[in-house]
Amino acid sequence: MSNENTTPTPAPESAQQTDKVSPFLTAPLPQGTPQGQQQSLEQRLTDTPVTGTVPKYNLPRGANTGNVGPTTHFGYQTVSSEEKAQKVAEVFHSVASKYDIMNDLMSFGIHRLWKRFAINMSGVRRGQHVLDIAGGTGDLAKVFSREVGPTGHVVLSDINESMLNVGRDRLIDAGCTNVDFVLANAETLEPFADNSFDLVTISFGLRNVTDKDAALAAMYRVLKPGGRLLVLEFSKPVFEPFAKLYDLYSFTALPLMGKLVANDSESYKYLAESIRMHPDQRTLKGMMENAGFQNCDYHNLTGGIVAVHRGFKL
Ligand SMILES: C[S@@+](CC[C@H](N)C(=O)[O-])C[C@H]1O[C@@H](n2cnc3c(N)ncnc32)[C@H](O)[C@@H]1O
Repeated sequence: MSNENTTPTPAPESAQQTDKVSPFLTAPLPQGTPQGQQQSLEQRLTDTPVTGTVPKYNLPRGANTGNVGPTTHFGYQTVSSEEKAQKVAEVFHSVASKYDIMNDLMSFGIHRLWKRFAINMSGVRRGQHVLDIAGGTGDLAKVFSREVGPTGHVVLSDINESMLNVGRDRLIDAGCTNVDFVLANAETLEPFADNSFDLVTISFGLRNVTDKDAALAAMYRVLKPGGRLLVLEFSKPVFEPFAKLYDLYSFTALPLMGKLVANDSESYKYLAESIRMHPDQRTLKGMMENAGFQNCDYHNLTGGIVAVHRGFKL
């Protein structure tokens, strides 16, 4: 795989380049419902289905699947599913402009290595079609754009307009001419046709999604047979004393950094809480299997602070 810093990027094309309609969409852009956009209650209820029952998995007792009933969680708060989506939207509207610098600061730059590991696991090849869900500022999409080359195609997708705008500007500046930018909710992936991508990725996005089962089912739907899903996400540290230290760091340093750099401690408190509420490694693997993925496995990174899950649509 080529190195991000040494591979020359092609010169940016005209702005018109980004206005073309992707052949992988079922309808013209933009589609989906941007978070924070005003909608009628009826429309919101149709767009964001809430499952009333919790699917059964072959999972350890007490495992937190993160599934939604009438209520769900936003960090440690119990909220309605509607409220969660709105609150997640507020977090990412608020942090969008400082998102990249905060990522580097909070993880001491290690998020770059986690992402590199996930990209290496993706097996992406020239000419392939890649969908990066909850792609935000486009770290993964930028590398995929180069890896798939001019005959391939990448879609950077996110529900949040502020995050997607940062990603779009960044990738256009980097000359990524084979990327489309699409607002879409991971729970439905409505703009995308069935069986249309070789690779689907979601990096540090799944824990923010209210109905994770619906999202995994949608990812399965849009993958081509033979395609693979990669989920890069915070997970459960495997070594207990390390977990305590990590807790201390997350609940004190992160909100403080958020306050100092982004003038927003609450969003970073949510970050710490949402990490603790996210399904652990085994649970997420079970959820992927339940959505239809086969040959699922996962790799712990940095002692399980983060895990990359992989599954195939066969
Ligand atoms: C922590 S950021 C991750 C951004 C990027 N993937 C990365 O790894 O740096 C989480 C992203 O998930 C997006 N998100 C939250 N809920 C979503 C949903 N239901 N559908 C799609 N994206 C969602 C947010 O807008 C935000 O951009």
